Amino acid sequence: MGIIEVKNLSFSYDEEDNAVDDVSFSVEEGSYTTIIGHNGSGKSTVAKLIAGLLEKKSGTIVIDSMELNEENLKKIRNRVGIVFQNPDNQFIGSTVRDDIAFGLENHCVPQNEMDGIIEEFASRVRMTDYLNSEPTRLSGGQKQRVAIAGVLAMGPKILIFDEATSMLDPQGKDEIKKVINQIHRKSGLTILSITHDIEEVTSGDYVIAMNDGKIAMTGTPEEIFANEKKLKEIKLDLPFSVKLQKELVKKGLKLEKSLTMEGLVEQLCRLNSNM
Ligand SMILES: Nc1ncnc2c1ncn2[C@@H]1O[C@H](COP(=O)(O)OP(=O)(O)OP(=O)(O)O)[C@@H](O)[C@H]1O
Ligand SMILES: [Mg+2]
Repeated sequence: MGIIEVKNLSFSYDEEDNAVDDVSFSVEEGSYTTIIGHNGSGKSTVAKLIAGLLEKKSGTIVIDSMELNEENLKKIRNRVGIVFQNPDNQFIGSTVRDDIAFGLENHCVPQNEMDGIIEEFASRVRMTDYLNSEPTRLSGGQKQRVAIAGVLAMGPKILIFDEATSMLDPQGKDEIKKVINQIHRKSGLTILSITHDIEEVTSGDYVIAMNDGKIAMTGTPEEIFANEKKLKEIKLDLPFSVKLQKELVKKGLKLEKSLTMEGLVEQLCRLNSNM
């Protein structure tokens, strides 16, 4: 059984069309799962339903063996942290320290333990030097790192990122990706990341592809990118590295399947040195 089990989940904003329509999937504990799909396909709605921020119309959501219902809502909200797209909408404190403290205060952490814990979380997102800064003065990437520290301070088992890097410049994107990967590797948290970043999708363990409120495909990145026809149907594209590999194979190069540019370049170098 996965740490997230979603069965026949439906939700509508307006009583007519279902924004999420009979969705079922499972997320393995400790995995890095990405959710992909075109605009309006229901990804954010699914994330908010799992985090207990929206109430389902029908179906079941089981998180960490607990059914998401009124009775378990508080416990589940503590187990699921969510970081959104816009770094400016996620601050509560007037300094970075206050902001990270907010989650801890909610957990009734004793005052004398607070500073140590805040410093630990700030250091995990490499923001120790900014603890006394005003969040509004930080760069987008720094703001998102503080938001991540604040969510981590709640002690979640699952971290959801809803396009958390999409408003950042390339450097900010890289910073956040590094922090997320480090958290995943070191603390073994389950990561569920909604993303249009195909590089991130290829390096994850598992992919859920959505289309018009429904699940269109699930599988490993290899399985998903092997089905180009289906991807086209749901208006998604193959990663550049996979397209390039296909073209090279068409031209007669003997290449093993590789999803990443690094893997492809490595094989090309090997072929070149054998010639
Ligand atoms: N607050 C809302 N009120 C009414 N309809 C909404 C609301 N939020 C989303 N919707 C509708 O629900 C559907 C799914 O939206 P959702 O935001 O979950 O999609 P998404 O896959 O996250 O899209 P994007 O990639 O643009 O973020 C869309 O048709 C959208 O217009
Ligand atoms: Mg969205």
